Amino acid sequence: MPPLHRSPRGTRDLLPESQPFWDHVEEIAHDISLNYGFSQINTPTFEDTSLFIRGIGKGTDLVDKEMYTFQDKGGNSQTLRSEGTAPVMRAYLQHGMHTLNQPVKLYYIAPVFRYDRPQAGRYREHRQFGVEAIGETDPALDAEVITLAHDYYKKLGISKISLQLNSIGCNTCRPLYLKKLVGFYQKHRSNLGQDCRNRLDINPLRLFDCKEKNCRNSLLDPLPLISEAPKVIDSLCGECESHFKHLQDYLEASKLSFTLNPTLVRGLDYYTKTVFEFWAQGIGAQNAVGGGGRYDGLAELLGGKRAPGIGFGIGLDRAIISLQEQNIKVPEKTQPEAFLVSLGNLARRKTLILLRSLRQAGIRVESTFGNRSMRSQMRQANASGAFYTIILGEDELAKEQVTSRDMASGEQKQIPLETIVVQLKKDLESWE
Ligand code: HAM
Repeated sequence: MPPLHRSPRGTRDLLPESQPFWDHVEEIAHDISLNYGFSQINTPTFEDTSLFIRGIGKGTDLVDKEMYTFQDKGGNSQTLRSEGTAPVMRAYLQHGMHTLNQPVKLYYIAPVFRYDRPQAGRYREHRQFGVEAIGETDPALDAEVITLAHDYYKKLGISKISLQLNSIGCNTCRPLYLKKLVGFYQKHRSNLGQDCRNRLDINPLRLFDCKEKNCRNSLLDPLPLISEAPKVIDSLCGECESHFKHLQDYLEASKLSFTLNPTLVRGLDYYTKTVFEFWAQGIGAQNAVGGGGRYDGLAELLGGKRAPGIGFGIGLDRAIISLQEQNIKVPEKTQPEAFLVSLGNLARRKTLILLRSLRQAGIRVESTFGNRSMRSQMRQANASGAFYTIILGEDELAKEQVTSRDMASGEQKQIPLETIVVQLKKDLESWE
């Protein structure tokens, strides 16, 4: 026999028992997005590979190592959605959304594919709830987007989440800053690990992702180089500095607490000015449950006219891990209201008709299949948690009636077949 198939490494089946969690995190995402005036957008599961390369940037891990890229039968290079912002900006440009009222506020709930090293909370297919607000530079919009994410976690009931905030400047101030950063690291090149040497040559801002304890001034120096390196926050131009000050002021006015984190740089090249992450305790090495920032130059990178924007992506898999870690209850899947059991072929036919009538009347009803004894069917009825069991045996059939059993009290009553739908609806009302 051939070996049984398993789901591909880093992917998971979302089994029925996890569904109440998924329904809950997605329902609240829809509710809060609409509440904040965002409209839903769905982009394709795959895009032209060049969209991600131009949007996210060569030299990022996402583009260089993590994309699921394939050639279709027409010879075109396509890539599964590796993040949600570039596709939404592509749609904004493609559909001329600059003619609408600005900012255009969009949200999505979609699977994201990354060839990441799988571990707890890190998968090769995960789901993100993301929002993108495009067409406005006002820092009040940054505050609105960050507040939305904060309120989302609050609505879910997840606590112990910290908001990390930084500004990484714009095309005016960042090149000057990068010169300073590279100058500083060049002096210590011989102390750097291979990863950091590569970062220094290709994407110096990523030096702040270094987790190597040995990237230090010297082996005797207790501080890693990161803590001594010049920080972008100290080299912002006037405009970026004012933007960042206003944002902090608005967040304080909204009573959102945040930590200024000068080493927060994010992994995608399109970011300008504001960057932020939400960190949670207890989800392994991956403590970012969400992150985002401003991307004022992305539209131009994609060949469009300037369209500044800001957004975030929240990892729903990680939100669910946090809910479970913190023992937060979510609405359970509702049990059937009634369970039908029957004996004999003739009764089976009647059961099918009755099941349909009950379902058409809006009653959640279940039944069994195959030739099971009355005892085994009653056991299933009991296990289903249904409020009533409707029994259609030979006796009942002969009298054109059914027995309705109240599963809590064990009380039984006979009801004519033709009135059972109406009667059951009435009886169920007493449970509401
Ligand atoms: P990101 O930080 O790459 O940002 O991903 C957003 C969130 O997705 C992360 O904070 C994390 O919770 C979750 N996530 C990322 N990778 C994985 C994974 N392999 N397994 C499970 N969860 C994961 C973006 O994707 C940007 N597009 C966000 C954004 C929107 N920026 C502006 N607008």
